[in-house]
Parts: sequence; C-alpha cells; structure tokens
Amino acid sequence: MNYKELVSQINQWDHDYYVLDHPTVADAEYDLAFRALLDLEAAHPEFISPESPSQRVGAKAISDYVKIEHRVKMLSLANAFSLEETYAFFEKAAKELNLSADSLKIFSEPKLDGLAISLHYDHGLLSYAATRGDGLIGEDVTHTIKTIKSVPLKLATDHPPETLEVRGEVFMPKLAFEKFNQQALAHNTKLFVNARNAAAGTVRQMNPKIAADRDLQFIPYGLGDYVGTPSFTQHSDILAYLHDLGFRKNPHCYAFLACYEAFVSNYERMEQIRALLPMQIDGIVYKIDDLALQASLGFIARSPKWAIARKFPAENSVTELLAVDFQVGRTGVLTPVARLTPVFVGGVTVSNATLHNMDEIERLGLQIGDKIEIQRAGDVIPKVVQVVERGAHRSPIIVPERCPACNAQVKQTEGQAAFRCSADLSCGAQGAERIRHYASRKFMNITNLGTKLIELLYNTGRLKTIADIYSLTIDDIASLEGQGEKSAQNVLESIASSKQTKLGTFLGALGIHEVGEEGAKSIAQYFKTLAAIMAASLEDLMQVPDIGPVMAKNIVEFFQSAENRTIIAKIIDAGVTWPAIAEFAIAQRPLAGQTWVLTGTLQQLTRSEAKALLESLGAKVAGSVSKKTSVVVAGVEAGSKLATAQELGIKVMDEAELLSAFVTADSLE
Ligand code: IVH
Repeated sequence: MNYKELVSQINQWDHDYYVLDHPTVADAEYDLAFRALLDLEAAHPEFISPESPSQRVGAKAISDYVKIEHRVKMLSLANAFSLEETYAFFEKAAKELNLSADSLKIFSEPKLDGLAISLHYDHGLLSYAATRGDGLIGEDVTHTIKTIKSVPLKLATDHPPETLEVRGEVFMPKLAFEKFNQQALAHNTKLFVNARNAAAGTVRQMNPKIAADRDLQFIPYGLGDYVGTPSFTQHSDILAYLHDLGFRKNPHCYAFLACYEAFVSNYERMEQIRALLPMQIDGIVYKIDDLALQASLGFIARSPKWAIARKFPAENSVTELLAVDFQVGRTGVLTPVARLTPVFVGGVTVSNATLHNMDEIERLGLQIGDKIEIQRAGDVIPKVVQVVERGAHRSPIIVPERCPACNAQVKQTEGQAAFRCSADLSCGAQGAERIRHYASRKFMNITNLGTKLIELLYNTGRLKTIADIYSLTIDDIASLEGQGEKSAQNVLESIASSKQTKLGTFLGALGIHEVGEEGAKSIAQYFKTLAAIMAASLEDLMQVPDIGPVMAKNIVEFFQSAENRTIIAKIIDAGVTWPAIAEFAIAQRPLAGQTWVLTGTLQQLTRSEAKALLESLGAKVAGSVSKKTSVVVAGVEAGSKLATAQELGIKVMDEAELLSAFVTADSLE
C-alpha cells in the first residue's frame, strides 16, 4: 500500500470502529498498519497529510487558550420540566405559524450530557474546533478535539462544501467515566464529579496526550455557518448528511406529529432507554423539523423558538444517613458504604450510597444522623454529594478495629486513604483474588488453574488460601460442573510443574501490598534466601535499591503475621522450591567500599538489574569514571567511559565476567 492508501485504510477502520461501532479489522493488523504509517512518515516527513491518523495526537501542548469568535452565534435551549410545559411550547409556536399543533413534525433527540463544540471544516479538512464560551466568543480547543476518533479529520466526500461548521456535543461515555474514576481512586488522584465535568475538563486540557487517553466521543446535532452544501428542507436531512460525511448518529431519534399523546409516549420510551444507553443523557431535545418554519419562528433572547429541552427529573435527593458499614474488597481494602433512609431519586428508590474512603468522609464532614444530598447519575451507584443539615444527635463514623470478614486487625498505611484488613492470606473476603494473583502467569504460572476454576473451588470451600492449592485432589476438581477427569488431571499436572520456581517470583506471588514483580525480584536478589527476607528489619529492607518505606513496612508486617507464616510453611512443605541464589552474608559483602561504573549495552541483565546486583554486593554504582573508580563493566558499544577507564588504567570487565564472578547460572531468568 502506498502512503495515501495507508492513510485512508486506517481512517476507514477508525470510522468503522468509532463511528459505526462495527470493527472491521483485527487489532494486530491495525497495529501493524499504524506502525507502517509511522515508519513511512518518519522516513518521509514531506508525505505527512493533515488527515493522517498520526496527526490526532501530534499537536504540542498549548500554554494559553486562543479566543475564537463564532460567525453564527451559538445558542442554548429553553428548558421544560413537564409534559404540559413541553406541549404548551409547541402549541404557542404553532399558533404563531397559524398552524394546528398536530400538523407540526417534531424531531426528538436524546439530550447528550457533555459540552457544546463547534467544528470548522475548510474544503473538507478540519481546520479548528472551539468551545461555546458565552455564545459569541469561544476558545480554540483543536488540539484536544483532534484526538477524538469520532471527529473526522477529513469529511468523507469527494465534493466537500467550501465551509462547514458542525455543532454537537462532546461527552465521555459512562464506561470511560467509571474507568477514569476507578483509576483515580487507585492512584489517589482527583476524581471527576460527573461525566460532564470529565468531558469539559478533558477538552480543556493543555496537553493533548492526556485527552487522547480518555476516550471522548462527538455526536453532531446541527450546523452553524455553511457554504456550498446541498440544500436542506428538514433538520433531519442535515443529520443524515452529517452521518454520510463520517459523523456518529445520535441514537434513538424519532419523528412524530406534535400531539400531546405523542409527547407522552416519546418521553416514557426515552426514560426507559436512558439506562441502556452507553452515554449519559439529561433529557430530550424536541425540534420542529421543517427548516423554513424554524426560520420564520427565529429566536428569543438566547434560545430558539423552534426547539426545547425536556429535562429528566433531578437526580439529586436529600435523605438521612442511618449508618455506615464497611465492606472488605478483594484486595483487603475496607470501603465505607452509606446506609440511607430509602429515597426516590432519578426514577428509582435508593437505600445505599458509596463513600469511597475515609478521606472522602472527612472531606464531606459527614456523621451518622446527618441530612445529606445524594446524587444518582445515570445508572451508576449513587454517591453522597454533601451534608445539607447536621443531625441533632449525630455520631462520628468510626473505622472498625477488626475486619468484618475475618476479624483480623485493621490497619492503615501511612500517607494512604485506605484502611486494610491485616490478615492478607487468611482473610476470606480476599481469598479468590489472592489465589488468582498467586496462580497467574506472571507469578506461579499454574496454567490450568484459571480464574473461573479458582472461583468455583473457592465458592465451594475447597480452596480457602493459596496453600490449599497443593492439597487439591482429582475428585475436588472433577466433581465440579463442566470439569472432567482429564481436565482435573491437567490442573494437578500444572500445579506440580509450577512448584519449581524462583525466589523473586514466589515473593511476588504472595501479593504483599505494593510489592510488584520488579520489587520482589530486587528483594530476592538482595537477600538471597526466604529466611533472610522473613527476618529482615525495616532498615535492612530499605537498603534494597528501589524499596521505599511503604513497601518495607508492608513486607515486615506481612511476615510478622503467624497466619501468613503458617501458610508459607505449608507451601514449602508441599514442595515449592527455587534454586539458591549465590549466597553472601550481608555483613561481609565482597564489594564493600568499591565504586563501579556500568557502560554500554548489557545483554543478559538490564541496567537496573546490574546496578541492583552490584549494590547488593556492597558496591556503589557511579555514573562517571574517575580515578576513584574500582571497576568498569563494559557492555556492547561502550564508548567514552571505556576509553577513560583504559586511559586511567582502571580494571575493565565484560558482562560475562561479571556474571560468572557473582551470579550462579540458575538464578538468571
Ligand atoms: S440543539 C440552537 N440538540 O444542550 C440550539 N443541543 O441546553 C442548539 N445538547 O448547548 C442545540 N444534546 O450543548 C441540541 N441533541 C441535542 C443536544 C443538545 C445536547 C446541548 C447543547 C446545548 C445544550 C442546551
């Protein structure tokens, strides 16, 4: 494929996926084509065309917003909060037009809950995008809008209009919003209060790379300025035209004549559809479809006389906080859940709300007995917005001292909002997830013990802790639904063959909080034996490169627990084993007092592994060569540092010499 074909092929795939929701290519093939495109563009920057998919995140971060004057004013809509108001609005319009209401054709569209954006196409190419601002002047947000895959960079036509200003809503789909907030909670960063703020905050990002990761969408609902388009007689023709040009369609649009019953049934239908939609909607927009009638009605103040927004009822309600329960999640974190006097909000009765964590409770200043405002956005779990009135007999919310699932002590890691159950391996609420982590490919790699099987065995009580894996029998597995003798045999075989492991892998498999794959490897490399790790003090652990105080504390606490030690002993008894790592007692480290320098590319170890190895042997690892350097380890294509070492007569080693001097062959990956 030549460059042009490649660009249009990828744009076609993007259109199929992001506009039509109908993927037409496998991920691997897509990735390959995209890579080919980037390679071609790197080799021939002169090829790069504005519609190339690479140009979506190509823009540099901006440092200030540029103002943009709208050539056609961007209006807002009047709101109606009842059917009567809605119907009266169109009765009045009909009267002004000297028509009967039931002869007016109404077009109904979901009211998307995001922010209004205007897109300018110049001879078919996206030239800029702006926010609404005050309706007259908006802000240039081209850099973030370009990252939205449902915004075509080039209109899908061989005869583009000279000018086309497409207006529509940018929003964050429900799933993307939930994903964003879950990640923010996990990383202790800021949450967005709702999907609308998330969309607005993302569009106004200075850095387009951040926007590109957030999965916004665009759906058009009309035109601003346009020159050289076909002529339209109906609003619905415009929407059809825009879909042909490569834009998404607003789902669930309907046309009907403006009689009262039609508004009733349309509203009831949309209320039901609302929860099923992938994006949040906050009402329905009703428009007179005929463009000539629209023109003769015109505008009043800031809104058209031919369209109105029928808003859904408020999703916020006030109720009383009766109690706060703590639930133990699969990672041992205690999550507070608000128990409420049941209240009707956004169409359903609600008696629970999430509170995220204790920081959130503190931020809200919440106590039991308070009158609180809760919000139910779409079909997501309701949350507490604020305290409306303090209870007369209010009492503080206290984190239980003992885990509600297993009665072990509850603890809080310094600097973190979360409280956790301290039982780790023996807490029932954490069981299945811990076992899954332990057996996963990255860790013990028990290939035939998958998530489904673990849950089945866990729910039937056959697997309570990771140690129970080693006493599973053929019967335990074969008696489960969907399992047979043969598959049970396979599971037992993969358990048996997983027993030969590595110390770092085993340590990571235990799932100590914050101790990931890399951290576990460094610790193993440093202490060499499980006994040494289990006996290490906080200070000992902090000597390990890349191990901070939080990790060190978690490790010490983990091994202090008698339950955890018993489980580990059972596993070792069952035959889990690893090859010895060359032993060096910490006190007599062979390279103590020496300074080593690494240069060039190493083949077997990564830079940080080599550094950790040398440091665990007692050496200091420096970045440059001087007279004080003891040894230089030179990898492939070592440059000036090697030359300096040779000049100064400093000892030089290659990677193989380093490995054979200090590492047993087995402990390498
Ligand atoms: S039509 C001249 N249609 O709601 C009126 N607006 O509250 C043009 N909105 O500023 C707006 N979905 O950002 C229209 N299907 C839809 C819409 C919609 C969401 C937003 C839009 C507008 C606001 C007014």
